Amino acid sequence: MISVNHGVFHLQNSKSSYLFRVKDGYLEHLHFGARVQTGDAQALAPLPGCGWGGSTLYDERSNDRCLDALPLEWSGAGRGDYRESPIELSAGGEAITTDFRFSGSEIVKEQPQSALPFSRGQTLLAVHLADKEAGLRLTLYYGVLPTAFTRRAVLENCGALPVSIRKFMSACTELPGAFCLHTFSGGWIAEMQHTVTPVTMARSCLESTTGASSNRANPGFLLAAPDATETDGVVYGFNLLYSGSHYLSVQKSLQGVTRILQGISPANFEWTLAPGERFETPEAVMAYSGAGYGGLSEQFHTYVNQSLIPPYWQNRPRPIVYNSWEGCMFDFTETKLLRLGKTAAQLGCELFVLDDGWFGRRNSDTSSLGDYTVNTKKLPHGLKGLGEKLGAIGLGFGLWFEPESVSPDSELYRAHPDWALHDNLGRKDLLGRHQLLLDLTKPAVRDYIVQQVGGILDSAPIRYVKWDMNRHSCALGAKQHAFILGLYDVLHRIFDGRPEILLESCSSGGNRFDCGILYFSPQIWCSDNTDPVERLRIQTSLSYLYPPSCFGAHVSASPHAQTLRATPLSTRGNVSLFGCLGYELDLSELLPVEAEEIRSQIAFYKAHRQTLLYGRFSRGQTDGGALVWQMQSQTQTVSGVFHGLQPAAPGYERLSVTGLDTETLYRLESRPQLLRVGAFGSLLRHVLPVKLKPNGIAISAADGHYKMYDGAQTVTASGAAFAAGVALIPRFSGTGYDPNGRMQSDFGSNVYSIKEVSTHEKL
Ligand code: GLA
Repeated sequence: MISVNHGVFHLQNSKSSYLFRVKDGYLEHLHFGARVQTGDAQALAPLPGCGWGGSTLYDERSNDRCLDALPLEWSGAGRGDYRESPIELSAGGEAITTDFRFSGSEIVKEQPQSALPFSRGQTLLAVHLADKEAGLRLTLYYGVLPTAFTRRAVLENCGALPVSIRKFMSACTELPGAFCLHTFSGGWIAEMQHTVTPVTMARSCLESTTGASSNRANPGFLLAAPDATETDGVVYGFNLLYSGSHYLSVQKSLQGVTRILQGISPANFEWTLAPGERFETPEAVMAYSGAGYGGLSEQFHTYVNQSLIPPYWQNRPRPIVYNSWEGCMFDFTETKLLRLGKTAAQLGCELFVLDDGWFGRRNSDTSSLGDYTVNTKKLPHGLKGLGEKLGAIGLGFGLWFEPESVSPDSELYRAHPDWALHDNLGRKDLLGRHQLLLDLTKPAVRDYIVQQVGGILDSAPIRYVKWDMNRHSCALGAKQHAFILGLYDVLHRIFDGRPEILLESCSSGGNRFDCGILYFSPQIWCSDNTDPVERLRIQTSLSYLYPPSCFGAHVSASPHAQTLRATPLSTRGNVSLFGCLGYELDLSELLPVEAEEIRSQIAFYKAHRQTLLYGRFSRGQTDGGALVWQMQSQTQTVSGVFHGLQPAAPGYERLSVTGLDTETLYRLESRPQLLRVGAFGSLLRHVLPVKLKPNGIAISAADGHYKMYDGAQTVTASGAAFAAGVALIPRFSGTGYDPNGRMQSDFGSNVYSIKEVSTHEKL
């Protein structure tokens, strides 16, 4: 709901209020937080008192007319506000001052046309400001959504001369209070490292300058009260619907107000606005929670699931995929793929993704990006033939592309070397993974991609696309924003008319995990790192801002390709259950007991899929120090308990399940987990009635065939007991195999399903 009353603007949803007013032509920020009344405006406005000595005044009649001390919704440059400005412009090569004053407002009935992604279904307010001297009109858009607010800015040159934009933020937000800034930065296979920095008068910035939102600096961040917990305290969340270079800064003023700027990175940014032209910034999204980190992430999850991803995929089950990459890399034939597909289907997978290597002469990463013609040596019956055969064994068909890149060793590059981005002074091209980026600012390049990818999608029964983008380009420079607009144009043209194709975006894993991409692609490959121990950290960090329904999460081989760590198959599965489940390993190497363990994982996923994708997520811990992920819907709760290194003689452990009705009776059941005999090594000597050598023929033969159950448990208790914490069966403690214990070593885990005991059972 939006109300405008005597110059006071009040944006409200069921969770929070956002309030500002016009003061002497400027937009004064009043409140962003718990719901309040419009009539509270005066009470919420800061009282400047005697003014601030040493300040520049915009009106000398009063000492409190000082932009530097006023919490503002926007600020110009060179008019007394010495804090960081959201806008920097120049004309004729010289920086110009700007001074935007309120000129009117309107409730916008329809989402204005936009080349950038925007939140769906929002109620919009447009607040117009004008700078007469500079000949500029600025419109600040505010959007109200059920669990979030949005902001963006549009600048129009109404003057007679061109104006250059050096910096133009999407939003300037000011919040009183003490905060810690939570950011998520990292790199390849080490995405989403959660860093907490106190907000002070020294400015903190997080910026991506690579041309992608990047794994170095996820655009999402939190500002939390220093004492906030998972369930209590003030936490604000912010994100940006943008996939290119972005910028965020926070800085506290002497008056104790933190200014937050979010937008396109000003690094290398330059955009000329000719008379009559306009420039729109990407949309910023923000939410407030008074109920700690858990409350905030719930609001962001609802936002992404209901107001951002493509409508067709909202609330829809996501297919369990088998992906060929880690199992085959570039080395496959149709026969091999179909053999893998058959096993995948028998295990319960629903869709087969043919990853890299199916086109041109792509037998390694040194060639053929750009030449999406099927390699008939590998696939003699083409994509159609493969897709139909997969269909016959009950699997959907998905395909990998990397359409934004080109290999210098490709037909495309030989025909159109000028379609790639090159250094603008003619320096030697700098390659990464033997590839260059295509210049998506060129209409001909975009047309080519749309026709090529679109043509292939129509030529075979393809239901899923993995859209990869593996390397940045040093030659992008000032073209970075136009490149991103080009990418969005291409994605619209390919996928708007094919809404039922599931798009999973990938950029060497999480190198472009952002709300701009989620507008097109309901799921994103989180990281090339599928080591479950690393994934626990990566997916926990992502969960603050993004829902598990957008995490591409696959089970891969052990020891892991990136960490050489050996982990139990049960844990690899348990971690991947909290996301869009998939398998990415050579299935021909599975032992029978491993195949059965995977079948159990998939069966569990199918029985709890809607909860695991769209339930309410919370992060917690057992009193034994294990990480707990909980997903809860109206009808079921799933709790994952994940341990680190196994201590000797571990103590008792209780699992607390939140959100249940205290009076109701519930039953917890563990997912049936299977162990290999080999996990016990020479200890087998002590538990078996016959003497066998640990690495001997008999054990090797038994390993993989003989089933040993791990962690089987059922508990029936009231919701009150579950909230207090129910006792879990003991962990392994040096006493041999016990089917009533959790037979786990390092990185052991279990997943539990908790459901109401039916009336029928109670009778
Ligand atoms: C990137 C992706 C991987 C895989 C390869 C294929 O590294 O992140 O998942 O698709 O490309 O070349």
